[in-house]
Amino acid sequence: MTHSDRIETLLEENRTFPPSAEFVGQANLTDPQTYADANADPEGWWASWAEQLTWDEKWHTVSEWKPPYAKWFLGGKLNASVQCLDRHVDAGKGDQVAFHWEGEPGDRRTLTYADMLEGVGRVANGLKTLGIEKGDRVTLYMPMVPELAMAVLACSRIGAIFSVVFAGFSATSLKDRIQDQEAKLVICADGCWRRGKVLDLKTVVDEAVADCPSIKNVLLWRRGGELKTASNGISRDCEWSDMVETQDALCPPVLMDAEDPLFILYTSGTTGKPKGIVHTTGGYLTGALATTSLVFDLKPNEDVYWCTADIGWITGHSYIVFGPMAAGVTQVMYEGAPNHPKSDRFWELVERYKVSIFYTAPTAIRAFIKWGDEHPAAHDLSSLRLLGTVGEPINPEAWVWYHEHIGTEHCPIVDTWWQTETGGIMITPLPGITETIPGSAMKPFPGIEAKLLDEQGAEVVGAGGGYLVLSRPWPHMLRGLWNDPERYEETYWSRFPGFYFPGDGAKRDADGNLWILGRVDDVMNVSGHRLSTMEIESALVDHPAVAEAAVIGISHELKGQVPVGFVILRSSHESSPALAEELRKHVGTLIGGLARPEAIHFTPELPKTRSGKIMRRLLRDVAEGKHIGDTTTLADPGVLDGLRAEYEGNKG
Ligand code: WTA
Repeated sequence: MTHSDRIETLLEENRTFPPSAEFVGQANLTDPQTYADANADPEGWWASWAEQLTWDEKWHTVSEWKPPYAKWFLGGKLNASVQCLDRHVDAGKGDQVAFHWEGEPGDRRTLTYADMLEGVGRVANGLKTLGIEKGDRVTLYMPMVPELAMAVLACSRIGAIFSVVFAGFSATSLKDRIQDQEAKLVICADGCWRRGKVLDLKTVVDEAVADCPSIKNVLLWRRGGELKTASNGISRDCEWSDMVETQDALCPPVLMDAEDPLFILYTSGTTGKPKGIVHTTGGYLTGALATTSLVFDLKPNEDVYWCTADIGWITGHSYIVFGPMAAGVTQVMYEGAPNHPKSDRFWELVERYKVSIFYTAPTAIRAFIKWGDEHPAAHDLSSLRLLGTVGEPINPEAWVWYHEHIGTEHCPIVDTWWQTETGGIMITPLPGITETIPGSAMKPFPGIEAKLLDEQGAEVVGAGGGYLVLSRPWPHMLRGLWNDPERYEETYWSRFPGFYFPGDGAKRDADGNLWILGRVDDVMNVSGHRLSTMEIESALVDHPAVAEAAVIGISHELKGQVPVGFVILRSSHESSPALAEELRKHVGTLIGGLARPEAIHFTPELPKTRSGKIMRRLLRDVAEGKHIGDTTTLADPGVLDGLRAEYEGNKG
């Protein structure tokens, strides 16, 4: 299906799902006037949410906007870990479960808010013993275990800037990130379980750190149980059991300015080098709390909330650690694969812990559909009352399946559009108000203003399509890129001066609902994760056999998109299936398994414009077997015939 076909079918979608009277009867927010009020006075709206946090000193100015830099809650002082822990314990909620955790092999732990506070105190004191101070960077490379949330909060407790690297990234990716932020410490696990196998994380860290002179220590948490690893005996290593567990549990929080950086999170852009997105403390927490409370209709003392994302991505930062914990809800956290030992693992967890709010990604929903309706049907899912999705456009059929088979036709679904850069949910239904339509993320969250612009930057008013932009600053927006102000301005603010450009295209229907169409730049979305074509091309060209490479994202049934590489070999090398496999692996080794191309096609030439720019659009047409569009700008139209023959020959 082409892009425009997809838009047409989407806009023919006319099934609507109003919230049930029962849901509305208990919802946190049911008054549509909230939109108008918040948009008439965004500062007042956001300040009302900031007031729900615990401040040591109140701000003197709500916001300052010197494009493209915003500041929020100027002069305010607070500590992020206090919002997530101390204030709940102080309010008598210490015994409430913070996490029901389950390991893939079936081991279980329950940690209360009081347990989390103690754990965080010990880690924070351990960090201090290791010489970590306010403003130092600490890199985290850990699986989904409560200790990762503890490590994140411990950094914030002493004012260290943390940066979580998803534990599926390669040693090279980890090294690049550590070097860019000049981290002093890595906190890692020895390993974790995934589909019945142990992933050795420590060896990856050792390889990465070998090239990182800024790193003074590696703090190693051991997964324990049956997991036996790992390389050790390096002098900079220290064990969690020595450095953390022996510490005092009390650690006074460091007072942070609202605008002090809280974390750096790397994400892919259109060039090969990942961008270090910087978020600060007061505004970020305000946005995380507001969106968690309203989008998920959260009842902190009643709900059991489960977001299946990894803390290595922004979704885990905002909607596992900071939003839900600032609200003080009970969560489920699971270490492993959704289909281990069987394809009903998630539903077993929902039933066991009586999960009431479930937030996942379209790629997971497509996998559930493929695995079969019998898996959710085998479990009691009646505890669920609200479902969410994030990460990529969800097609209406997957949405309706989610509604019927997981939501048993009574749960509202919130399709939430946002990005690492936006820090929190931006376009979404509000479950007590919105009549949802499958495939549409509906309307901007109160206080957020989105517009559509055409190619020339003129506003598209009413129904129509265009480039999605955000036209007003918000508290949880990124404050820039780590050490790279020029790239910040260039990437987000230069295409449409005065507007933040996220890189997505969108359509607005006659009722003003927004339909996100996906990226319009050279960024692809694989299983809901962003990868840049340039990054993968650089990894291919890094191999000695490769002279030139072009990478495109093509549609994939489960993953949404997958990378496919077109490669020109150096004359000293011959193409072969073995070499194609070697190149796929090479990309996996350099970036991580997610980036491994689905296929490699060898070609003597690539379609280029006369000025030498690779025309990826034409490669996509070849790969998707489509009629080749306009080729008038092509330097040598004959190249495409060769490519198509090669592609057809290779596909089977
Ligand atoms: C895409 C993930 C359609 C979009 C939170 C965005 C979506 C990118 C949706 C950000 C959605 C995310 N509908 N597309 N509900 N949510 N996207 O930074 O292209 O990993 O720009 O943040 O994912 O990916 P990121």
